[in-house]
Amino acid sequence: MRILKMGQVGGGIGAFIGEVHRKAARMDGGIVLAAGAFDVVPENSLKQGKLLGLDPKRVYSTYQEMIAGELALPLGERVDFIAVCTPNHTHYPIAKACIQAGFNVMCEKPMTLTVKEAEDLEALVKKTGVVFGLMHNYTAYPMVKLAKDMVKQGDLGKLRKVVVQYPQGWLWQLLEKSGQMQASWRTNPKTSGAAGSMGDIGTHAANLAEYITGLKITEVLADLTAFVKGRKLDDDGNVLLHFEKGVKGLLHASQIAVGEENNLKIWIYGDKKGLWWSQENPNFLHVISQVAPEEIWKRGNGYVADKSKTAARGTRIPSGHPEGFLEAFANNYANFADTIRAKEEKRRAKPEELDFPSVEAGVRGMKFINAVVTSSKKGNIWVKI
Ligand code: NAI
Repeated sequence: MRILKMGQVGGGIGAFIGEVHRKAARMDGGIVLAAGAFDVVPENSLKQGKLLGLDPKRVYSTYQEMIAGELALPLGERVDFIAVCTPNHTHYPIAKACIQAGFNVMCEKPMTLTVKEAEDLEALVKKTGVVFGLMHNYTAYPMVKLAKDMVKQGDLGKLRKVVVQYPQGWLWQLLEKSGQMQASWRTNPKTSGAAGSMGDIGTHAANLAEYITGLKITEVLADLTAFVKGRKLDDDGNVLLHFEKGVKGLLHASQIAVGEENNLKIWIYGDKKGLWWSQENPNFLHVISQVAPEEIWKRGNGYVADKSKTAARGTRIPSGHPEGFLEAFANNYANFADTIRAKEEKRRAKPEELDFPSVEAGVRGMKFINAVVTSSKKGNIWVKI
């Protein structure tokens, strides 16, 4: 296995998700951090590079300098991919520049600010053939992959209903007023996009529902609210969903649900059985029935591996030793990296290697945001995606 070199944009000192990407990428020993433009303030990027022990020649003041500096290195020395871990409004220009320079990209969600930008990136990825990953990490948990395989294998029967929720409470007050970095850009339409909580976490919930069911959401009816006085973007939203094949559902995402942390949870009901999974207790998948006791499937056991190859592939340690958030990120990185290696080896990537969200998921996310915002603004009407 060739060890891939990672470049990173974002993830400066005090940033949230950049450090998660670094930890997850190196988890399996197949990726090393080699370069970065870590912060919007150039001096802070240099400070972060020093703390991370990088070669000072590979720590850049801006992403443009990183692209130019890495392109000047011979193939094999330069980074194999660039992870974009910056606020939403910067994803499009940074990802576009990286792709145009021929770099593979791992990008944070939501992918862009508009549907048009998302479609532009999709066309560019297709044209150039770069490998593109989108960090919807919740679909990378082994028990979510097991749920997907159960649905696919017909265990639930014909699907009828999906309920998915993502409540958080951390924006229950005007936190952005204090200048808190993560709250500030997330609540500003210029840096966050057309939606607040729906873009930040509603897109994760929609992606989870589409991944497990294998069905697309076709239309939505949304009611978005900014509960906190002075806030410009939604901090709460309730959405009715229509999926393909007549499946119906609902999604709620909130950042003012006081007391909640990251209570992402999904229930799927078919005409034979149902299932539910909770992100805060992710090593278990619950299968429920009208005529039999509840089954609790536990990560890491042989019966999971028998049922789902992708769930087994996304498991590192024996059952009973919990795996979670970092491992899910690492699963997306492992599959993304194997797909890059497959390209290098001029072979077709296997389906299990391709099991990570890509640019199409980014386009779906942007269409979802666009539809829920439109629906809510137009007085809670059904809007097609
Ligand atoms: P943050 O505010 O904690 O960190 C952003 C970092 O990007 C800072 O270090 C900032 O200096 C840097 N930055 C901004 N513009 C830059 C530029 N032009 N060049 C270089 N660095 C730049 O933000 P956070 O919470 O880490 O979020 C970043 C992205 O990750 C967002 O798009 C967010 O939606 C996404 N995210 C995804 C999560 C997931 O579960 N997949 C969880 C949290 C965030």
